[in-house]
Amino acid sequence: MSTVETNAPETNAPEMNRRPVPDPRHFRNVLGHYPTGVVVVTGLTRDGVPSGMTVGSFTALSLDPPLVAFMAARTSDSWASLQPLGSFCINVLGTHQEHVGRLVAGRKQNKLDDVDWRPGSGGAPIIAGCVATIECELDRILDGGDHEIVIGHAHTLTADDPGEPLVFLRGGYGHFRPGLDDRAANSS
Ligand SMILES: Cc1cc2nc3c(=O)[nH]c(=O)nc-3n(C[C@H](O)[C@H](O)[C@H](O)COP(=O)(O)O)c2cc1C
Repeated sequence: MSTVETNAPETNAPEMNRRPVPDPRHFRNVLGHYPTGVVVVTGLTRDGVPSGMTVGSFTALSLDPPLVAFMAARTSDSWASLQPLGSFCINVLGTHQEHVGRLVAGRKQNKLDDVDWRPGSGGAPIIAGCVATIECELDRILDGGDHEIVIGHAHTLTADDPGEPLVFLRGGYGHFRPGLDDRAANSS
């Protein structure tokens, strides 16, 4: 695992230094209009205790090599406790698992006590009933402002129980059903 800290290229153009700074609440509000899936990143702490954090910023990154990424707040205790062992699992939640997302998003110890899971091949907990699971080894961490960009090398993947994925949009949970064409047909 390597850590790379890079900054945007320096610019001498005066107009670039006058870019407006958005109000943080406005920034959050506007960005909240972009829908995300909901995953629980699981792993073991140094003491071998299973833990996790709910994440909306997960994304596929590269096919060759097989990389995925998510953004972890620098203030996150959960990520700080999961990171050292370097093995984690991305658990893609289904619509029936909203309660798991809410539970794991809480700031508390032993978040997985009331969650049904089994150890994956790399040791990280695999949560039962997920739409997909992606076991990873930590590849590298990049600077992302007040977040870290965490890149994982995916090694073991499943999509054995592909129910509907849970979706997060404008501060609420929901679901996605493909088929804009169907909707157009039904409304005509
Ligand atoms: C739907 C949803 C998406 C979230 N996405 C992220 C995320 O992408 N990155 C992150 O650091 N925290 C995210 N959080 C917040 C964490 O899940 C969690 O609340 C926080 O890590 C708890 O604090 P702790 O890690 O200090 O225990 C999200 C929370 C929710 C409910």
